[in-house]
Amino acid sequence: MTTHLIAASILAADFGNLQRDVELLNQSQADWIHVDIMDGRFVPNISFGFPVMEAVAKHAQKPLDVHLMIVEPERYIKAFADAGASNITVHYEVCPNLHRTVQMIKELGCTAGVALNPHTPVKLLADIINDLDLVLIMSVNPGFGGQRFIENTYKKLHDVRSLSSFSNPDLLIEVDGGVGVNNASKLINAGANVLVAGNAVFSAADPKVTIAQLKSAV
Ligand code: DX5
Ligand code: ZN
Repeated sequence: MTTHLIAASILAADFGNLQRDVELLNQSQADWIHVDIMDGRFVPNISFGFPVMEAVAKHAQKPLDVHLMIVEPERYIKAFADAGASNITVHYEVCPNLHRTVQMIKELGCTAGVALNPHTPVKLLADIINDLDLVLIMSVNPGFGGQRFIENTYKKLHDVRSLSSFSNPDLLIEVDGGVGVNNASKLINAGANVLVAGNAVFSAADPKVTIAQLKSAV
């Protein structure tokens, strides 16, 4: 029995055929559609903004998992909730008032996640872990799809599991970057219960088959 979720990242889709690719995910075993928002400031790349997010939302039949790689995310949280986000994840590194930001996300009716860059230790979440629905562990430096997986991620997933298992056992632990059929099982065993996959899905000969393989990993 699988208990983990698959969040397919639309960043790796063909933006000239966005509706087609969203419909492909609708028909797949993907649980969520992962939406990467990059501002060219927190990360050295710009992805897309509200018009594209709204186009995804218009066709998506699965929850939208919005990953904000932007500075001052609190300025845009309401707009992303209005645009159809189910989960909103902000980065620890850009939130000096993280507790307030998390409460803001929840008050808008979304679940709240916090993401950690590869260099940011899990222990920094100790005093907020019980307020979170999700922790996202970056397994590449954020900014681009198709990067090589960082091996220290396994240790960080164990750290999140130990920090949360007693006080927040329902916490979603998401891993993002360089995830594929080759490492899915090991990530699940290390504590991940949401796998984000972009290139592994959209560069596959048959994306639906790859999603099914990720979903059946144990
Ligand atoms: C990277 C993004 C990821 C990206 C993952 O900054 O946060 O969600 O889409 O892409 P892959 O799976 O290709 O590494
Ligand atoms: Zn992401």
